[in-house]
Amino acid sequence: MPADSPFVPAAHEPVLVLLEQDAHGLVRPRVADPDVPHLRVTDQGVTRGDGLFETALAVADEAGTLRMRKLRAHLGRLASSATALRLPAPDAAAWEAAVDAGLRAVEAASRPAPGARLSVRLTATRGPEATPGTAPHPTAWVLLTPVPAPDEAERRAGVRVLLLDRGIDSTAPEHAPWLLTGAKTLSYAVNMAALRHARAHGADDVIFTSSDGFLLEGPTSTVLIARHDPDGRRRLLTPLRQKGILAGTSQAVVFAAAHAAGWRLGYGPLIPADLEDVDGIWLASSVRGVLPVRAVDGRETPVDPTLTARLQAWLDADGDPGHHVSGDPVTSDA
Ligand SMILES: Cc1ncc(COP(=O)(O)O)c(C=O)c1O
Repeated sequence: MPADSPFVPAAHEPVLVLLEQDAHGLVRPRVADPDVPHLRVTDQGVTRGDGLFETALAVADEAGTLRMRKLRAHLGRLASSATALRLPAPDAAAWEAAVDAGLRAVEAASRPAPGARLSVRLTATRGPEATPGTAPHPTAWVLLTPVPAPDEAERRAGVRVLLLDRGIDSTAPEHAPWLLTGAKTLSYAVNMAALRHARAHGADDVIFTSSDGFLLEGPTSTVLIARHDPDGRRRLLTPLRQKGILAGTSQAVVFAAAHAAGWRLGYGPLIPADLEDVDGIWLASSVRGVLPVRAVDGRETPVDPTLTARLQAWLDADGDPGHHVSGDPVTSDA
């Protein structure tokens, strides 16, 4: 194949879209072969985990057209991560064009069945090590990978979590912003190590706590808690973002829908005791969806399939997250 002919992805295989700068400095998407190397060994995404990412879900409609869910919220969070990292990542329009090119390439390779799902991962690194004083030249790409339907058995049974100390206190976002607690950086080795620790100790997942005792988040998820207020009204809770967690896009969409349905909301701050006497606890994230927790540190907690289905339906409806998107401390409803 001549070097300049467009790459044609194979059916049911991952699709890679590179965001490349043309001669005029404009960032353009190019569908490329995911099975050949594209990164330099000096890329700081690899040598230092210095970069950012987003993982979103795309689902095919009845006509087989793929659409990425929560596009605005993901691109908004990506821009916040880029600001926190001072990384000159491509702008929203360039990412949108790349995602669109990827989705259309998947459709062209094999018309997706209704309900077919893809994870859409957007990544930008600080690029190859540059000589001091020269501007960084970020590397950016979108990778679209088919993912199976949700594991219904897991969703019915729920997951066992351990509470693990993240080792930093909840004032870190103010006094140590370089820890990048609210940014979705490529430095996830610690999160993956926590998951391995949980699995080696008979659990499936983790809820991090701050060293001063606040509930934070899962290594790849946001914590949601449902309970009844003394007057019988339902309340949905999530840990306070300002304590040092990522603003979850799934949490935001579910909260906006719960609010519209008349539920009260609460943003904490929460402590481990808030995991007791609840109607349910879930780990929420874009690809896995809303996963019920069935045990915390070995102590059983209620799993309510009807509530899980309700939260999942709110997430699937992909409504406007509105002002709930950043987890900004919208004052808890009285
Ligand atoms: C640390 C962390 N918190 C929360 C989430 C959930 O975010 P979202 O709902 O936007 O997928 C993720 C997703 O991977 C995550 O890595």
